[in-house]
Amino acid sequence: MIVLGINAYHGDAAACLVRDGRLVAAAEEERFRRLKHWAGFPSQAIRWCLEEAGATLADVSHVAVNQDAKANLWRKLGFVARRRPELGLILDRVRNKRERMGIAETLEAEMGERFTGEVHAVEHHLAHLGSAYLVSPFDHAVAVSVDGFGDFASAAWGTGRAGHVELDDKVYFPHSLGIFYQALTQFLGFPHYGDEYKVMGLAPYGQPIYLEQMREIVKTGPDGRFELDLAYFRHATEKVEYEWESGEPTVGTLFTAQMEQLLGPRRDPAALLEQRHRDMARSIQAMYEEAFFHLLNALAKRYRLDRLALAGGCAMNSVANGKIYRQTPFREVYVQAAAGDAGGAVGAAFIAWSRIAAAKAPGATSRFAMDHADWGPAFTDEAIGRLIEARRGQLEALGCVAEHVPDAPALCRRTAAAIADGKVVGWFQGRMEWGPRALGNRSILGDPRRADMKDILNSKIKRRESFRPFAPSILREAVGAWFELDHDVPFMMQVFPIRPEQRARIPAVTHVDGTGRLQTVHRETNPLYYELIGAFEALTGVPMVLNTSFNENEPVVCRPEEAFDCFARTRMDVLVLGGWHISRPS
Ligand SMILES: [Fe+2]
Repeated sequence: MIVLGINAYHGDAAACLVRDGRLVAAAEEERFRRLKHWAGFPSQAIRWCLEEAGATLADVSHVAVNQDAKANLWRKLGFVARRRPELGLILDRVRNKRERMGIAETLEAEMGERFTGEVHAVEHHLAHLGSAYLVSPFDHAVAVSVDGFGDFASAAWGTGRAGHVELDDKVYFPHSLGIFYQALTQFLGFPHYGDEYKVMGLAPYGQPIYLEQMREIVKTGPDGRFELDLAYFRHATEKVEYEWESGEPTVGTLFTAQMEQLLGPRRDPAALLEQRHRDMARSIQAMYEEAFFHLLNALAKRYRLDRLALAGGCAMNSVANGKIYRQTPFREVYVQAAAGDAGGAVGAAFIAWSRIAAAKAPGATSRFAMDHADWGPAFTDEAIGRLIEARRGQLEALGCVAEHVPDAPALCRRTAAAIADGKVVGWFQGRMEWGPRALGNRSILGDPRRADMKDILNSKIKRRESFRPFAPSILREAVGAWFELDHDVPFMMQVFPIRPEQRARIPAVTHVDGTGRLQTVHRETNPLYYELIGAFEALTGVPMVLNTSFNENEPVVCRPEEAFDCFARTRMDVLVLGGWHISRPS
């Protein structure tokens, strides 16, 4: 039985396909459309998922979408009656909902096929909880979702047990930690959808001297709850311009003039970063963590469980996630590869599947655990060989040599030597990663030991803000020797302190506060990448490489064509495409 899961008309539109309770394929639409965070109906991702499964729309018996127009209706009506927001705000939301009601019709129109299956509208936060717990290795755990908004709520929690999720309570519109973080990200002059990670990267350069002001904006309350002081925000009373249709999502200004009275003038995106902005970034992050741990500690006390499955856009805050072990009683944390809205496609599909399975065979507990992110498209060496043939002229013009190295250990040794030699290596292998992080399949790799590696990467390819850190991929067994915590982080969703005595050995992946956003690489789930890092360790004594996503101001590359073009237009030194090794003359 096939369940198609969809995240549509939110940022990071995505699709996945679940067959008999097991994930078969999952991908974000942005990778196909080549537009970051693409929002709309994910028709290309759906088409690819069906193709990967060898199925057509006629084979799909259930479609699950992470949105339920009927959810929280009384809350919405109550809000309108009490606060009388500008009519456009509500009309806009109704219009948006109407578009989502016709999922079956849209699917048929986009695919050009009949759909006779059933549509499951799964409430947004229930889908988030499902996207965390239902694909986690846990039998019994607390599940928590924290985001901007979805279905009129911004946070939810409950428990998962024996393959079923129980949602207990929520934080409703207009209160939202995601909106708090997003509004202040705009305030600091980072206007794009998804820019919050820049504030997170900037935070360690400052001091939390604005924390008292932040506590004016966010109030923590009883039972782990939180509220916003709405005087600082526009979204509850005015129409904030959101665009979720067929393109890069955009969000209008979320904060009011009163925010400037509290914090001083907002930063213009073109203005230089001052210490005041760094201090503000640190204070924003500190406030987020305060409210987040306030919630998690209340839930740990309430449920008396020490396992936590986490999702929602805020679950992308890897700095806060990395502190959970020290700030709360939780002893095991699971955050899946696409913790944000894209992951809602997986959550909706597994919620639908768990209901279908329970109806068919009550008490059945067959579980699926997502322990790797390899759910996207893959390409054979033959297909890559044809591409190289087609680009022969371009390769010659660049003076590049392309060789096929079918022996994997030899390819790994050669690539490791190039990395150790200070080269910037594009590493394209196997299935594209599900979720925003490159995890060794669509990655650009460098030497973590070189203090100048960050500048080299930024000058050759990335051209990103100098304050943003690069991340290490480390062999799982080596984590304890290099980091102060020793846990699995397969999806780069937690930042841990690096052991002080090791920091100077790996300056390129050590952030200014001595931390690293690590990816733990496991032999069982990523054998080739494990072998490559092992080869690098054999040469250097360092069991990790610097890993950044394979792209240049665009979505992470999906097809070998995009990887090749990125290599050709930047100053990348080496490109490894499957078994093909291409090097540029130095
Ligand atoms: Fe969400």
